Amino acid sequence: MKKRAVITGVHAWVPDYILDNKELETMVDTNDEWITSRTGIKERRILKGENQGTSVIGTEAVKGLLEKTNTNPEEIDLIICATVTPDMLFPATANIVADNVGAKNSYSFDISAACSGFLYALTIASKFIETGAHKKVIVIGADKMSSIVNYQDRTTCIIFGDGGGAVLLEPTEESLGIMDSLLHTDGSGADFLHMRAGGSRKPATLETVKNREHSVFQEGSTVFKFAVTKMADVSAEIMKRNQLEAKDVAWLVPHQANKRIIDATANRMGIGPEKVMLNIEKYGNTTAGTLPLCLWDYESQLKKGDNLILAAFGGGFTWGAIYLKWGYDPQR
Ligand code: UT7
Repeated sequence: MKKRAVITGVHAWVPDYILDNKELETMVDTNDEWITSRTGIKERRILKGENQGTSVIGTEAVKGLLEKTNTNPEEIDLIICATVTPDMLFPATANIVADNVGAKNSYSFDISAACSGFLYALTIASKFIETGAHKKVIVIGADKMSSIVNYQDRTTCIIFGDGGGAVLLEPTEESLGIMDSLLHTDGSGADFLHMRAGGSRKPATLETVKNREHSVFQEGSTVFKFAVTKMADVSAEIMKRNQLEAKDVAWLVPHQANKRIIDATANRMGIGPEKVMLNIEKYGNTTAGTLPLCLWDYESQLKKGDNLILAAFGGGFTWGAIYLKWGYDPQR
């Protein structure tokens, strides 16, 4: 019997501070009507305070996850954190989280795949379980986007927010869990969505700080066109190669970048809005955090055996989809 990796718990965390569209109106030349109609976003969360990095989000999510799944942190074999806003360039944020939660027997690393990061990390993690190498792996998707957003740039600051979540993966011999994964990269997309300075190519200088090159640059309409096409294509492809029709899919779990991209993906899959997880209105785009935040928000509606399609598109360009069967009923 083939061993599969199944999600046996999900937990997420967002900071308390709410930055709503009204407050953004006082910061840049924008308005609630434009933001709502163009993106679907009403508010987003911001992590405030000194020394508060993405590891805070990851740590809170993992602590809650360990508690609700009744898991001893010392049993964790591996922690993977998907993020583009690590606490520091090194060490990995996953290492900091592992230390914070007492995962003493785990090794850990970060992966950088922007908004598709959670899909990449989940795919990698599932392989360690399928081979029998590990029994308990935690995958975190979290970003403190406010740390790399220019709050004078109305084309990006209205989109992003802070938050994230984590899932526990364990082996199963039932026909549940990660069934298929389809991931793509196109490095030529780097020109349209990136953070110019702060890496080895252009280390920080007074000039780079003055020019605000340490924040997200996005050519929005180009990224939008790619996102609409690629997220819809990859979702349709994973359905086709697993002989899934719209009626077989219980939920689409889409990256929350723009409601119009989500609608286009659902339309292409032939799926109605009642089957689409949506929380962009309250959190905005939390990059690697959106997918676990959706699973957490909708956890009480998920049933064992439900077919889920997770799909994302983001910086890189990176994009992909995962077909998974949910592992448990709401009241375990
Ligand atoms: O998650 C990672 C991947 N990222 C994405 O998937 C994001 C993809 N892109 C988008 O979601 C959209 O392109 C945006 C939400 C970023 C922008 O929406 P858009 O419909 O593509 O707007 P646009 O950039 O074509 O701009 C339309 C107009 C422009 O004015 P003119 O030139 O038509 O007079 C902009 O200057 O809207 C203006 N505009 C704004 N107006 C009010 C741009 N930003 C704002 C704003 N408030 N915040």
